[in-house]
Amino acid sequence: MTLIDGKAVSAQIKQEIAAEVEQIVAAGGKRPHLAAILVGHDGGSETYVANKVKACEACGFKSSLIRYEADITEDELLAKVEELNQDADVDGFIVQLPLPKHISEQKVIEAIDYRKDVDGFHPINVGRLVIGLPCYVSATPNGIIELLRRYNIKTSGKKCVVLGRSNIVGKPMATLMMQKANPGDATVTVCHSHSKDLKKECQEADIIIAAIGKPNFVTADMVKEGAVVIDVGTTRIPDATKKSGFRLNGDVKFDEVAPKCSFITPVPGGVGPMTIVSLMKNTLLAGKKAIYQ
Ligand code: GUN
Repeated sequence: MTLIDGKAVSAQIKQEIAAEVEQIVAAGGKRPHLAAILVGHDGGSETYVANKVKACEACGFKSSLIRYEADITEDELLAKVEELNQDADVDGFIVQLPLPKHISEQKVIEAIDYRKDVDGFHPINVGRLVIGLPCYVSATPNGIIELLRRYNIKTSGKKCVVLGRSNIVGKPMATLMMQKANPGDATVTVCHSHSKDLKKECQEADIIIAAIGKPNFVTADMVKEGAVVIDVGTTRIPDATKKSGFRLNGDVKFDEVAPKCSFITPVPGGVGPMTIVSLMKNTLLAGKKAIYQ
C-alpha cells in the first residue's frame, strides 16, 4: 500500500510555481494577483481563505482579502464582483462559498467574469471542461488528477466510482476521469443518495473517489483488493485534544480500508493541500493570460 502524500506534492508544486513567478517578474512581467471575497465568519471558510492567502505568499503572488459581514446585500456583493471584473490589476478572484441564505450563490458565480473565474465555477468554464476545451478547472478534482499523475496511477480503462455529485467536486471529477486524456480514459460511475446498490458499485471499482461528506462511509467490505481510494471528505469532528477543538474526518474508514488498497490518500494531508495548490495553478494561468486573453 502506498500512502499518497498530498502535503509533500503540494509543497513541491508551490516551489515550482514560485520559481516560475520569479522568472516572470525578473523578465519584467506582472506578479499574479488573486483576490478573495469572504462573507461572514463561517469557521471552515475562515480557515480555507486564510490558507489560500498563505499559499499566495508561498507562491510569490499578490493577494487581496475582501471581507464583508453576513448582512451584506446581494446587490452590494454583485457590485464588488463587477468592480473586480473591471480591475486590471486583479488576474483572478474567488467568492468563498457558502454564502448567507439571502444571497444567490448561482447569481454571484454567474456575475464573475469567466476569464477571472479561477475557481472554475462559472457555467462557461464548466461547459468548456465538459467538451474538453481549455478552461479553469475546479480545484479539488484538478488536485486529484495531479496526484494520480504524479503517482503514475493508471486510469485508462479502469472502473472509477465517484461518490457524490456536487457541482464543485463530484460532477467535474467524473468529467475529468472520463475525459480522453491521461489521467482519464476511465469508465466512470457516479453514485449518490438515490443510487440503488452503491456497495456493489464500489466493490467492482478499481478507483473510488469519495466526496459525500459522510465520515467513515466507505468501509473495508466495500473495497476491492488493490483498489485506489481517494478521500475528499473533510468533516469537522469536535476533539478536545486538538488546539483547534476539532479534527478532520474523511469519508473513508482509513484504518480498515488502507490495508486493502494499492494507493490511498490520508485525511488530513491527502486531497486537502492539493485543492489549494490547484487554485494557485489557476491563478498562475490567469496571471499569464494562458487560457483567456
Ligand atoms: N467552498 C468550499 N470549497 C470552495 C472552493 O473551492 N471555492 C470557493 N470559492 N468556495 C468553496
